Amino acid sequence: MGHLGIAVVTGASSGIGSAFATRLASRGYDLLLVARRGDRLRALAERLQADAGVDVTTLVADLTRADDLADVEARIAEIPVSFLVNNAGVGALGPTSIVPPDAQEALIRVNVIALTRLSLAAIARFRSLGGGTLVNIASIMALMPSSGGGAYSGSKAYVLNFTRSLRLELEGAGIGVHAVLPGPVRTEFFSSQGLSDSVFPDQAYITPEALVDAALAGVALGEEVITPTLASPDPWRDVEAMRRAYLREAMSGEIAPRYRDG
Ligand SMILES: NC(=O)c1ccc[n+]([C@@H]2O[C@H](COP(=O)([O-])OP(=O)(O)OC[C@H]3O[C@@H](n4cnc5c(N)ncnc54)[C@H](OP(=O)(O)O)[C@@H]3O)[C@@H](O)[C@H]2O)c1
Repeated sequence: MGHLGIAVVTGASSGIGSAFATRLASRGYDLLLVARRGDRLRALAERLQADAGVDVTTLVADLTRADDLADVEARIAEIPVSFLVNNAGVGALGPTSIVPPDAQEALIRVNVIALTRLSLAAIARFRSLGGGTLVNIASIMALMPSSGGGAYSGSKAYVLNFTRSLRLELEGAGIGVHAVLPGPVRTEFFSSQGLSDSVFPDQAYITPEALVDAALAGVALGEEVITPTLASPDPWRDVEAMRRAYLREAMSGEIAPRYRDG
């Protein structure tokens, strides 16, 4: 085993997850790659072992299934995990009131429940091993209610708040906790859902490799919320200032005048 320990990447069979696996391997991490498509995971594992000389293990798991999720948690508890990227995610995009309930539930199982349980498993492991890094992939949709993706937007808002809350709690514990908010990235995310690859203007897309390089730079900077395409940190600072102003006023303990005569 390499001295950096093992990085676990969920959703490593394509797109952003595959790019994370590649970059982390080239930095010297051994890897545990998780997704449903074992053929793709095995092909990537072979390539990374040959190119980077690291150990790569694959674990086929459908993160909508409680038993598969438990297998991943159990594996994390057994191996020296020093880095987890909770990247697996589904969109179930389409009119929110029409997309089938089962598809929206599956989204919640992957984007919310699996991400939560694997975050907790990794943090327990990091605590026993003396440190580690957790990277949770949210989306700029965390800040955007969307008629074309209510469960997706809600799930990513969950990822953002859950991750930030963990970070608050773990300050000073030697455990890095980061949320990444990508904008549009050129992956199979849209086409695999039967959507056009041109949902957004062409110039709005970045490559998964560029996204991952920027995200890892954000991790190195210690940033809590990493938006790789946000040119200046100012808009995020403004959002935070407005959020604090909102909370100060909402905690006033008094009913607003406009609601008093309802
Ligand atoms: N692309 C974008 O524009 C964009 C923007 C913002 C955020 N994101 C987020 O980035 C992350 C990665 O997305 P991507 O763009 O790289 O999309 P992608 O190419 O479609 O990859 C999604 C990954 O998630 C895995 N996955 C899906 N359902 C799963 C399940 N039930 N169990 C286990 N693994 C599952 C897939 O593997 P299998 O199918 O092999 O299981 C695949 O490896 C997601 O969290 C997504 O929400 C993407």
